[in-house]
Amino acid sequence: MALPTVLIVEDDVDLRETLAQSLDANGFAAAQAADAGDAIDRLKNYAYDALIIDLHLPDASGMEVLCDAIVRYPRIRAVVITGFGEVADAVTAMKRGAVDFLTKPFELSQLTRVLRQSLAEKAVPPVEQSQVKRRFRFDDIIGRDSTMQRLFSTLELVSPMNSTVLIQGETGTGKELVARTIHDNSPRTDQPFVAFNAAAIPEGLAEAELFGHVKGAFTGAIASRTGRFELAHKGTLFIDEVSSMSLPLQAKLLRALQEREVERVGESRSMKLDIRVIAATNSDLRKLVKDGSFREDLFYRLNVIPVQLPPLRERREDIPLLAQHFAKKSCRENGVALKPIAQEALRVLMAYHWPGNIRQFENAVEHAVAMSLTQPDIGPEALPEEVHHPTSAPAIPAVTIPDEGINFTSVVSELERDLIMRCLEKTGGNKRQAARLLNLSRTTFIDKLQRLSVPAA
Ligand SMILES: Nc1ncnc2c1ncn2[C@@H]1O[C@H](COP(=O)(O)OP(=O)(O)OP(=O)(O)O)[C@@H](O)[C@H]1O
Ligand SMILES: [Mg+2]
Repeated sequence: MALPTVLIVEDDVDLRETLAQSLDANGFAAAQAADAGDAIDRLKNYAYDALIIDLHLPDASGMEVLCDAIVRYPRIRAVVITGFGEVADAVTAMKRGAVDFLTKPFELSQLTRVLRQSLAEKAVPPVEQSQVKRRFRFDDIIGRDSTMQRLFSTLELVSPMNSTVLIQGETGTGKELVARTIHDNSPRTDQPFVAFNAAAIPEGLAEAELFGHVKGAFTGAIASRTGRFELAHKGTLFIDEVSSMSLPLQAKLLRALQEREVERVGESRSMKLDIRVIAATNSDLRKLVKDGSFREDLFYRLNVIPVQLPPLRERREDIPLLAQHFAKKSCRENGVALKPIAQEALRVLMAYHWPGNIRQFENAVEHAVAMSLTQPDIGPEALPEEVHHPTSAPAIPAVTIPDEGINFTSVVSELERDLIMRCLEKTGGNKRQAARLLNLSRTTFIDKLQRLSVPAA
């Protein structure tokens, strides 16, 4: 079994080093943070088994770090270090979910004993979290990373309006959930939300499905039919997988959006409609416009309010919250008592690359809940097999080595250049995001751009 991991958050460098050495010598793996900002960054990226936290930190109160840690990881064993005469703070910390507190000065053996005991306990500390959590939710959308926070602000602004929204994101990133949330938060909430999936309907039938048809309009039209546009009158029409529409259908959609009126197939009379349109796609529409397979005018008509949903692998820090959310949902649906998720299971979840995004993640957590019915908590062994394979590294092109050898430096530069160009392309030229994709600091990234003379996008 791997050593239990502990994050020590303490600004006094001597004390911090002493604690780290003592823990390392006693069978723990200690990581250190000197301030609140550093501690929170570390917590976003790793599910430590335990936390040792000084309440006095230079940049923020240790209590904030503690609350953040407990919201993310209800199973983390947090031990608070306080100065003399701060018992009231220590009591507050225990109420928020810390397992114990130590008043300075204390014996190192006391700390290791407290940690060992609390790590051996299977029970969950009861923590009142509803207050803390609500701030980070927008209905059923879970997310606290910065892109999700920006998304919530956008949703708050645009939901009450009638503007067309274009939601882009990989499969399973929550496009439909976001579309429904916009509708639910709009004045149209009591009116219909009608979905039309352009990829699920054969091309020949799509027009009649969208606009309706009269009896006898074409072979097989034995009765007249109301189209999705009409059904969505006064409400919201959600056009999913909009990139799958054929060019002729795109032309008809554009016309309907411009005129705000539609005609049933086989009928010349048109109907005025009051509709809010939300479209979604998992392809890069701009690219399709460039390739000529998506109409540019339709793109601009749809892209009034663009919403980009990040893939789960780019917001790993949300994984603990999402795991709790789905575990709770699954336990409730199966009528079993909610149980905690082991930190080791969270580490496995955070290391995986999630090609299927949140949908796949939700299935994995559901699977784990079902597999751990007889266990006190949800452990790593309950997770589906595929999740145990850590993040697959980006495919590195095979370089053949000819007899005369290669120029190492130029081959490596070429590879760096290729990676950078691909990331810039993926982020539409946004250097900050591209640097993030490569896990490089912005300055290193800019350095490389210059050194490799990559054209600034
Ligand atoms: N931020 C989130 N918080 C909680 N649940 C989420 C979140 N995002 C997505 N989900 C859930 O994940 C599942 C997939 O979401 P959704 O169907 O909206 O994805 P999608 O982008 O439309 O996928 P596709 O491209 O395959 O159609 C749903 O069960 C949804 O409720
Ligand atoms: Mg969808």
